[in-house]
Amino acid sequence: MIKKCLFPAAGYGTRFLPATKAMPKEMLPIVNKPLIQYGVEEALEAGLTEISMVTGRGKRSLEDHFDISYELEQQIRDTDKEKYLTGIRRLINECTFAYTRQVEMKGLGHAILTAQPLIGDEAFAVVLADDLCLNLEGDGVLTQMVKLYNQFRCSIVAIQEVPAEETHKYGVIAGEMIRDDIYRVNSMVEKPKPEDAPSNLAIIGRYILTPDIFDIIKDTPPGKGGEIQITDALMKQAQNGCVLAYKFKGQRFDCGGAEGYIDATNFCFENFYKAGKVS
Ligand code: UTP
Repeated sequence: MIKKCLFPAAGYGTRFLPATKAMPKEMLPIVNKPLIQYGVEEALEAGLTEISMVTGRGKRSLEDHFDISYELEQQIRDTDKEKYLTGIRRLINECTFAYTRQVEMKGLGHAILTAQPLIGDEAFAVVLADDLCLNLEGDGVLTQMVKLYNQFRCSIVAIQEVPAEETHKYGVIAGEMIRDDIYRVNSMVEKPKPEDAPSNLAIIGRYILTPDIFDIIKDTPPGKGGEIQITDALMKQAQNGCVLAYKFKGQRFDCGGAEGYIDATNFCFENFYKAGKVS
């Protein structure tokens, strides 16, 4: 059973400067709740209670968010504001949190490798919290992926169809369809130009990885942008064994940029906040 969920959160968040100059982009609020909290809620819903985070300089607020603030608790006890803390209190009570720092930002693959001492030798989920995934119709995206993992027992990446002109923002896969929403990956390219993209199926920020990925990352040289790319490591894993790509059910907002962030804010305001779901 998968119990661990990793949140790589050491990136600079340059697309959201200056807001992210002194604040992690994972702490940007969608209405009144930070992105990282949505991510941990999704993990808990999937039964993943052991949360690991890869942080970096200037990311202390992530740790503080998942800790109890006694003065604040005292201040709002028995007031109507307590309802705002119900959700975060539940996460603090039901999950454990472990942190490590990535000292040099050498890419997502490197950030994942940095967490090896926290993960150990077991399969784990990875959430990029700036990709906000919501499914109003049923299971969250991680829950869907954990169910698939229990069936197939191999690494799984979440994918969605994107317009050709956007392939350069993503890792893009090609593979053979084994079910209408599942592909067996045989090729992966990081941030291809439209003419080089093997398909329009883009990897988004949800993964389940088997622990052999760590040794593969160690042997993966820097790729696109001089960074150690998880896509390159997954490509090797796919060649040696099996990686699945899963077209998830639900909606995904790229909150690392202004447009997705505003769309997510409007969506959450309409569907959660206005409906009284404030925590
Ligand atoms: P992004 O590609 O979104 O980079 O990283 P970024 O630095 O966060 O944001 P921009 O593009 O400059 O605006 C994808 C995920 O990988 C993490 C980021 O925190 C984000 O969750 N990451 C990336 C690391 O933890 N370490 C790295 O060295 C690179």
